[in-house]
Amino acid sequence: MDKIRLGVIGTGSVVREIYQHLYYRSEYSRLLSVEAAADPNTKALNEFCDQYNIPADRRFSNYEEMIKRVQLDAVQVNTPDSLHRAPTVMALDHGLDVMIPKPLAESITDAHAMIEAANRSGRLIGVDFHKREDPRIKEVATRYRSGAYGQFQCAVWYMLDKICIADPNYQPAYFASPRFCEENSPITFLTVHMADALLRIVSLRPVSVRATGWAQKLASLKPLSSTGYDLCDTEVVFETGAVAHIITGWHLPNTAYSMTVQSSRLICTDGMIDLGIDTPGCREIVADGIFERNPLFRNFEPDGTVSGYGMDRPGRIYQKFLRARNGEMSAEERGELMSPFELGFYTTVICEAAESSLKAGAKHNGVTRGVEIDVKTLLRERLGADASKYL
Ligand SMILES: NC(=O)c1ccc[n+]([C@@H]2O[C@H](COP(=O)([O-])OP(=O)(O)OC[C@H]3O[C@@H](n4cnc5c(N)ncnc54)[C@H](O)[C@@H]3O)[C@@H](O)[C@H]2O)c1
Repeated sequence: MDKIRLGVIGTGSVVREIYQHLYYRSEYSRLLSVEAAADPNTKALNEFCDQYNIPADRRFSNYEEMIKRVQLDAVQVNTPDSLHRAPTVMALDHGLDVMIPKPLAESITDAHAMIEAANRSGRLIGVDFHKREDPRIKEVATRYRSGAYGQFQCAVWYMLDKICIADPNYQPAYFASPRFCEENSPITFLTVHMADALLRIVSLRPVSVRATGWAQKLASLKPLSSTGYDLCDTEVVFETGAVAHIITGWHLPNTAYSMTVQSSRLICTDGMIDLGIDTPGCREIVADGIFERNPLFRNFEPDGTVSGYGMDRPGRIYQKFLRARNGEMSAEERGELMSPFELGFYTTVICEAAESSLKAGAKHNGVTRGVEIDVKTLLRERLGADASKYL
């Protein structure tokens, strides 16, 4: 076979911003045939399907119907994080491969159920953490593995959004729900990316997590304020004793030079690495201010195609699905693809542990100092005897 017959589950903002380009305008489009789409939100469903001539009998309000009625090889599950599990497990049980935008799942329990379903079915899951395909992260990961820097000791990662993302008074609103920042946190939205990028480089298991959260700036906004966190620091201790601080927030002044100000410093026994992720070498000085642009992520080419690591990460996962379906993937490669590290399992662990740390923490002057969460205990609480599969 030379094409994956794809069903798209969820046609919200990530499809609008990233995946419509992957499906129809990237170098990977020739590998994909979008056969059907499902979304209970009729407006989102029709906007996508009208644009790409997906016929009325291939539009579903219910993904279960789509999986039962349409001949597919794979689905892409673009639903909110807390709703990744059910469509993924059903699709795997029906013999389909599954692509998921990051993260694998919101909870450890969901992530485990999805991994178990994939192993039961013999099919594949791929998770689109786009930073894994960022050439700077890839280069550092390769050099770290080659021993160029020695052993990882300590790191700080920053990812800070402009406040227009989180301000419920700002128009146009970034999130569909004005309560998004109360129902979510910088941990679920931002820490997830940086934790995954760090794990990609060092491939170490986390052993304990403690978070601190500041709820000061969003609380002061007018006329609408928010009870959500402005800023979170997640301290992760790894199995070797290495320590990382992942500092994320969404309250930088709107004059920031980039929508997301992000960088990292890693200190190892034989070297130090600085990653200026928000300074990819394209600075604009224009009437509105000075801005850093990132053409490495998404690049609109003169011929109408779209390239960049935002396309390459999911595109290369689909190439693997195709190779597996054509019998060209060895058992060893399948094993690597389905390892907990590759699936982003420990990223979900860090984020859930950080949220649990804050929930059990003590609040003073708008600052919550979380408790220390032991990862082994957390995994045993969530997964019982199956925890040993990840320890
Ligand atoms: N790769 C990235 O950097 C990146 C960026 C943004 C979002 N994401 C991830 O993509 C996923 C979707 O995020 P989004 O920003 O598009 O959210 P969104 O809320 O804009 O869209 C989600 C869509 O899923 C639909 N949906 C909900 N339940 C459904 C169901 N049972 N069946 C079918 N559709 C259903 C909703 O109606 C909505 O249209 C999340 O997991 C998010 O974390 C990844």
